[in-house]
Amino acid sequence: MSNPDVADAEGASSSNKEEIIRGLNEDLSREYKAIIQYVVFSSTLKGAEYGDIADQLKLHASEELAHALEVARQIDYLGGDPTVTVKDAEYSQDSKKMLEIDLKQEQETIRNYRERIRQAERSGEYALSEALRDIIVQEQDHEIDLKDALGLR
Ligand SMILES: [Fe+2]
Ligand SMILES: [Fe+2]
Repeated sequence: MSNPDVADAEGASSSNKEEIIRGLNEDLSREYKAIIQYVVFSSTLKGAEYGDIADQLKLHASEELAHALEVARQIDYLGGDPTVTVKDAEYSQDSKKMLEIDLKQEQETIRNYRERIRQAERSGEYALSEALRDIIVQEQDHEIDLKDALGLR
């Protein structure tokens, strides 16, 4: 005889997992977008006052790639299919505007990873939440680099 409590709990946990996979695929699309923006911005950023940040943006690009690889691995581990969809990259000819676009993107990314960590912990996916915490530390560094370049700190 089936135990309805157990069946409910399993149903809830598999729908939580699907919600996490959906969220992680959004995160992955956002990482692809970040890679594109940093590759382009780091090579086109103009102005002596932005000399240091251009090198930092190159580093951001490679860190975003590492995040994409890790998020895709986590999606596969959870039984999902990593997306091939990229969120539309944004661009501006104006250096300051470009940095502001990146800053807004990093802040959105951090908000989303915070939510994903909460979802992972609610579902007992602790290895996932640990991996996301490592990523969020780097996103916060990216946010700080951009704020410094914009003179916001
Ligand atoms: Fe990232
Ligand atoms: Fe980032």
